[in-house]
Amino acid sequence: MRTLVVYYSLTGMTRTVAGMIATSLSADLEEIACSDYKPGFLGYLMAAFDAWRGHRPAIAPLRYAPENYDLVIVGGPMWAGHIATPVAAYLAALSGRLRNVAFFLTHGGAPPEKVFLEMKSLSGALPRAVVSLREAEVRKGAHAMRASLFVDALLADQPV
Ligand SMILES: Cc1cc2nc3c(=O)[nH]c(=O)nc-3n(C[C@H](O)[C@H](O)[C@H](O)COP(=O)(O)O)c2cc1C
Repeated sequence: MRTLVVYYSLTGMTRTVAGMIATSLSADLEEIACSDYKPGFLGYLMAAFDAWRGHRPAIAPLRYAPENYDLVIVGGPMWAGHIATPVAAYLAALSGRLRNVAFFLTHGGAPPEKVFLEMKSLSGALPRAVVSLREAEVRKGAHAMRASLFVDALLADQPV
């Protein structure tokens, strides 16, 4: 199974999770780059405002074409109760073109369900599996068990 993991990360949490998932699945790894947001108070304010208003920023050209993969796993951080805008831009650009997808999310503790619904609606695809991980879990390295259950579900071709 050819697998692509695509993610955006502003402060590194999602990058850690994406790397682990990609390694476990021997997947290609694509980081979405977006120059609109920088770490720091003003950057966070702009990111939250853009997420709240549903802005779709420009993202840098991508290395990998998702059409060439059997499974595409897309992840990002939650911003202001939404998926981070660079991920929203990626999913919206590929709307209807992703057949076999799974989603992951990192967040500070807010309920993730609405964000997964948003990702589903943006992509027009029903995810085979989803997992949300708290930033605090990732910082402590306590996310490994749930991340591997997500990977196992994908490998077993079982919805979770
Ligand atoms: C602009 C901004 C908005 C955020 N909004 C939320 C939120 O609404 N709910 C939440 O639980 N966490 C929120 N967070 C926390 C992030 O989702 C969390 O720290 C995430 O793991 C960061 O991922 P990253 O390090 O890959 O960028 C926010 C963080 C930022 C920077």
